Amino acid sequence: MNSSMVTIFDTTLRDGEQSPGASMTVEEKVAIARALEDLGVNVIEAGFPIASDGDFEAVRRVAAHVKTCTVAALARCHEKDIERALQALAPAKNPRLHVFLATSPIHREHKLKMSRNEVIDRIGHAVRLAYSYCDDVEFSAEDAARTEPDFLVQVAHTALEAGARTFNVPDTVGYTTPDQFGDLVCRLIAETPAFAQAVLSVHCHNDLGLAVANSLAAVQAGARQVECTINGIGERAGNCALEEIVMALKTRHDLFHLDTSIHTPKIFATSQLVSRITGLHVQRNKAIVGQNAFAHEAGIHQHGVLQCQETYEIMKPEDVGVQGNQLVLGKHSGRHAFRKWLDDRGFELTDERFEQAFKRFKTLADKKKNLFEADLIALVEGELQTADGPWTIVSAHTSAGTGVTPSASVCLVDESGVQVEEAACGDGPIDALFKAIERATGVRALLKSYEIRSVSGGRDAQGEVAVEVECQGRIHRGRAYSTDIVEGSGQALLHVINRVLRAADQQAAVATGQV
Ligand code: KIV
Ligand code: ZN
Repeated sequence: MNSSMVTIFDTTLRDGEQSPGASMTVEEKVAIARALEDLGVNVIEAGFPIASDGDFEAVRRVAAHVKTCTVAALARCHEKDIERALQALAPAKNPRLHVFLATSPIHREHKLKMSRNEVIDRIGHAVRLAYSYCDDVEFSAEDAARTEPDFLVQVAHTALEAGARTFNVPDTVGYTTPDQFGDLVCRLIAETPAFAQAVLSVHCHNDLGLAVANSLAAVQAGARQVECTINGIGERAGNCALEEIVMALKTRHDLFHLDTSIHTPKIFATSQLVSRITGLHVQRNKAIVGQNAFAHEAGIHQHGVLQCQETYEIMKPEDVGVQGNQLVLGKHSGRHAFRKWLDDRGFELTDERFEQAFKRFKTLADKKKNLFEADLIALVEGELQTADGPWTIVSAHTSAGTGVTPSASVCLVDESGVQVEEAACGDGPIDALFKAIERATGVRALLKSYEIRSVSGGRDAQGEVAVEVECQGRIHRGRAYSTDIVEGSGQALLHVINRVLRAADQQAAVATGQV
């Protein structure tokens, strides 16, 4: 099927969640799904329902919330998987069953222990079954890029004959290169007449840093769906980054002559939302959404941009929703200006959260002479992270110095208003603080990594504290912002502990059928 529109299939909630430590609660997935719908993606892959009750519930809730996009659920070529995916998709206006089976020799031999013929039979049977339930079926040939091309043609023919509307070609291990992948797509389309009525999709992993380049080569060769994630998150080195493929197609429209339905000024806010929820930091020099993506350091560049923006900029920051690091609101700005600033950036806060965020803004404006865009984003993100509880810091104190045993004391309050005070000694003040918080909350958290960076410039800059913690056998990430790094460190750890406790409550609710 050839058209000038490329379908954007977002898998942040499924493949993106497979990034170590990026697990999300059902509410968080719904919040991201809403942002993806606003962004204009065509398909949201919401999860893999057979994998867990939490995944099932997330797909069901996303399916119920999303109105304009297609909602996809993943299933292996097993009856049980397909039926479970179908149940989860029941509330969806536009459901898609996404069925997959590995096709490469290495997977057939070592993982599946199946012959080529057995693989073909299994695919035909599963896709027919899926199609008997749902008009919109996608089939993915896992590890397609390492599959013998002649066999892949046979696989595509089988899946499309059996009713699939989309045939997806994953480079599961990020092994291919642009020329090779473009040739594969060309060959599949040329040798499979059924593509006249079906869409060829690609799904590229980034192990060699080629996911976007390979996806672009594929669309040049005729692919009309790209599977991608916000910020390129995903298994191992991640997936094709949505913001990069979309902006490449838009900026080089002269070359590709292809369009997407993405409302690009919403890109930056969506990227920030996903980063905040998953705890996965966007690297500073990341294309499109990194902090430095539109920053010009060299004098000669700054001079050029001031004379004419296009001298050193191929896209406008506003095109992707980046407002620049200008001085924004100040000490004298009121509620109205603050509300407008939030609305312009797509932050949706309840009245209660708005009041809390406004209070924080006033406190920060009193402490800090110059407030930059990055300060305010950090402030709102900080509010959104801490507002969910159950635990909040009332006070935190540390003491350390030469010849002194580092110690810390904290006072925390839970959502029912009960205050708990604890103290501890440690290898350093932050270690002592974390031990005191563990004692107060009763949650054991093993610190794996700890980073501090300043959010904006100046001696009075806010610090961003990012922690990676092992808790109940899983890696979790937390972040917090403060002008006081001790308080920020405590909040970052509490962010993780609160998430773990909320996820446990949610699992219990799903298991007892309360949601
Ligand atoms: O990478 C992959 O092969 C996948 C498939 C399940 C589409 O994620
Ligand atoms: Zn994948």
